[in-house]
Amino acid sequence: MSSEITVKSSNIFPLKSAATREQREKLLGQRGCVVWFTGLSGSGKSTLACALERELIERGALAFLLDGDNVRHGLSRDLGFEKADREENIRRIGEVAALFAECGVITLTAFISPYRKDRLRAKETVGEERFLEVHVHAPLETCEKRDPKGLYQRARAGEIQNFTGLDAPYETPENPMLRIDTHENKVAKSVSSIIRLLKERGFLHQ
Ligand code: ADX
Repeated sequence: MSSEITVKSSNIFPLKSAATREQREKLLGQRGCVVWFTGLSGSGKSTLACALERELIERGALAFLLDGDNVRHGLSRDLGFEKADREENIRRIGEVAALFAECGVITLTAFISPYRKDRLRAKETVGEERFLEVHVHAPLETCEKRDPKGLYQRARAGEIQNFTGLDAPYETPENPMLRIDTHENKVAKSVSSIIRLLKERGFLHQ
């Protein structure tokens, strides 16, 4: 997969939607946005995003989680972990997340998304004002100790190449809206701080 996309669609005429985002948001009583979790494998992205999704649904808000491993079973099953494949993975997620946000959904994404450039593009696709980048952080040694899927161990043994944090880079967010240190904070506390942020920004009312 090349890092520059060849645009092959031609003679296409986008249809204007019959309803506006504002109309859908009014129906739902919330505003569509994307909470973009980024961080190393094992940093706690999925755990946190899952707990947040549950909390939002319990509060009566419509939330939906797009998670790395799930998406790689479907939408991105043709992609691996080379730089260009990760770029394409994140491009697709950015597009899908933008559609969800346009529907008024509080959209949560949990992908390593290791490259700044790719996260920036996702932010531009979604729209800066409704994109909340959350850096889920734990030291590499902690992630490696947790190793919930046994992948660090396999990568150290040379069975997996291009493993983020080992022989593939993770570009730390320079200016995330929130940084959560999962080795120092309980999940419930971290969920509360994101809920607070969603309320402050007017995405969540209840
Ligand atoms: S991303 O880099 O394109 O954003 P994504 O979040 O979709 O990655 O997938 C990461 C998940 O794939 C990890 O949680 C891990 O379970 C698995 N995985 C398999 N191979 C690798 C690898 N080489 N580097 C990182 N994660 C990997």
